[in-house]
Amino acid sequence: MDIATIVNGLLGPEGRREPYPLYEELRALGPVVQTDEYMVMVTGHEEADEVLRTPAFGVIDPELATRFEPDYLEHPGQTLLGDSILQRNAPDHGRMRSLISSVFTPRRVAALEPAVTAAVDALLDELAEHGDGPVDFLDAFAFRLPIGVICELLGVPEQDRHLFRPLAADLTVTLEALVEDAELVAADRAAGELSQYFAELAARRRADPKDDLVSALVATADADPQRLSDTELLANLALLLVAGFETTGNLLGNALALLLRHPDTAARLREGALDPAALVDEVLRFDSPVQLTSRIALTEGLTVGGMPVPLHTGVLLLIGAANRDPRRYADPGRFDPDRAAGRPLSFGGGPHYCLGAQLARLEATAALPALLRRFPDLAAAGPAVWRERLVLRGYRTLPVTLTGGAAEPSSR
Ligand code: HEM
Repeated sequence: MDIATIVNGLLGPEGRREPYPLYEELRALGPVVQTDEYMVMVTGHEEADEVLRTPAFGVIDPELATRFEPDYLEHPGQTLLGDSILQRNAPDHGRMRSLISSVFTPRRVAALEPAVTAAVDALLDELAEHGDGPVDFLDAFAFRLPIGVICELLGVPEQDRHLFRPLAADLTVTLEALVEDAELVAADRAAGELSQYFAELAARRRADPKDDLVSALVATADADPQRLSDTELLANLALLLVAGFETTGNLLGNALALLLRHPDTAARLREGALDPAALVDEVLRFDSPVQLTSRIALTEGLTVGGMPVPLHTGVLLLIGAANRDPRRYADPGRFDPDRAAGRPLSFGGGPHYCLGAQLARLEATAALPALLRRFPDLAAAGPAVWRERLVLRGYRTLPVTLTGGAAEPSSR
């Protein structure tokens, strides 16, 4: 297969649902492949890791985005996260990231463990109310848990939490490689609503601080506005919210779909014979909720895996492919929670390494064994349907019954 056919395939509906065969076609051409004059694609684990750890491969910040997409600034759906750490390079990135990490600390996350366990139990109680009927696991559990957790951490009041799943779904379409006009309109609207929401919440916390992340970030920003402007504050709050649940919801969905297809693994997890952390790492490797990210050469003279990457050449890092690199993982297409092969690239690496990795792991390791113990007969209740997204990989629906098998586990 030639490169153009592979790339078109990945952008099409079938490739977005099932990218793995196309990744292998690409890998057959080498771990780093030049797609055209402006772009290389990386499927190799070592090469992708090297790019992530090399600051001279930067993210496409607003200034670069404006250069390549002249109407970039007209779309809040694109610019909102452009002011966050996700889309800034040094020195802005380090300035903002050190501020955010100073309030989003490992201690604060670890202290959440009892609250996460309580949230899991409460959601399982609610799930039990569905009785024998089929229920969509994503609606009823997978998204509700991380939305509740990140909102609790940020200090978003309970009555507002239902607003965010549709807004995040609309906004994150701008992370995809191809965005249709109607999707961009919806993303712009979502960005407007999210920044207005956080502007109002920040104002309320400024007047009446509480023990939450919004209050802590507002206080830090107010103490030294040079270190965090108002726009940056809102952008980073929106990022924390969206990144905090969109990916984790998909992790839980992808994990359950795999457990339904691997009943022996599910049984071991339920019985305490499999370390939940190992299971979660293998789900992250095998079916990563983030499948790709990109970088751009910020200086001359860079190379990846020996291939020259001239200034302003884009680098697409296919995380989902790197996680199945046979040079790194033996028999990579086999789901095997016992492989203990080190952490996959699903949380990125280098300066932009995911700030929420610890939190996502905490939620998934608390939720999955508890779910299987509470509902030992949990089974698929019809085909699981993928969302047609390449970057953020997850299911649209994942119907299950809590009390016993109605259908063969399958996906389409
Ligand atoms: C399974 C769940 C998650 C996955 C797979 C994931 C994945 C990622 C990846 C791949 C990146 C790096 C992007 C890049 O380098 O271009 C990233 C960055 C980030 N993630 Fe996560 N994430 C998850 C959960 C979370 C959670 C729960 C939070 C917040 C509470 C979060 C907050 C962030 C933030 C703030 C960044 C930007 C860091 C920076 O640019 O310096 N993520 N995440």
